[in-house]
Amino acid sequence: MKIFGLDIGGSGIKGAPVDLDMGDLAAERHRVLTPQPATPDGVADGVRQVVEHFGWTGPVGLTFPGVVTGGSTIRTAANVDKSWIDTDAGTLFSDRLGGLPVTVVNDADAAGVAEMHFGAGRDRKGTVVLLTFGTGIGSAVFVDGVLVPNTELGHLELNGHDAETRASSKAKEDGDLTWEHWARRVQRYLAHVEMLFSPELFVIGGGVSRKSEKFLPYVKGIRAEIVPAQLLNNAGIVGAAMYAAEQHG
Ligand code: BGC
Repeated sequence: MKIFGLDIGGSGIKGAPVDLDMGDLAAERHRVLTPQPATPDGVADGVRQVVEHFGWTGPVGLTFPGVVTGGSTIRTAANVDKSWIDTDAGTLFSDRLGGLPVTVVNDADAAGVAEMHFGAGRDRKGTVVLLTFGTGIGSAVFVDGVLVPNTELGHLELNGHDAETRASSKAKEDGDLTWEHWARRVQRYLAHVEMLFSPELFVIGGGVSRKSEKFLPYVKGIRAEIVPAQLLNNAGIVGAAMYAAEQHG
């Protein structure tokens, strides 16, 4: 079965039809720039462009970088325009897409669902925590493969700061930190999450998952196994489509 998956990020809106049997994109993905400021109206236009590029007319799953309840309503907007808060994004996108059935899900939850099914968390039991390091830090917590949605562990307090402002990859870039310096912050952060959840496995996602050999060797003293995500840039798109398939498939 094929469903359209779409990932709304701080810099790009990207999507493609997804082959749900393979857990992979069924066509090369199309990307447009996220409008700045990333308001609901501007983002909805970008979403329409990506979907129209493929002439898609079936169900669409979308990720959003904030808390999403009921597959539709946005509750937080840490790194996008605050006017998203309390927006019924499902209705907004569906209207802009000529009434196509739409499901919206938190970006890290979508990536986590895809990694648990097709990637680094496949067949893993017990507690698994996926963390995405990007503009912010996203989290997805699984117990025996079942997701606890909207965990928002990126906003745990770390040394008196919102953790994502210290340990995201944006924090690395903004502070011009070496891999080793940044890895020490990631280590402190993982130790804190481990203290709270005692997971068997951490899956490290986001753009840095491609460069794990540069920083994971510096992350020491964590009891849980730590592995990079496997679906790289496509985890959000695949996970969004999986969500939509559950609702509308
Ligand atoms: C948001 C999360 C999101 C993460 C990654 C955080 O700032 O609060 O909802 O999953 O960034 O985009």
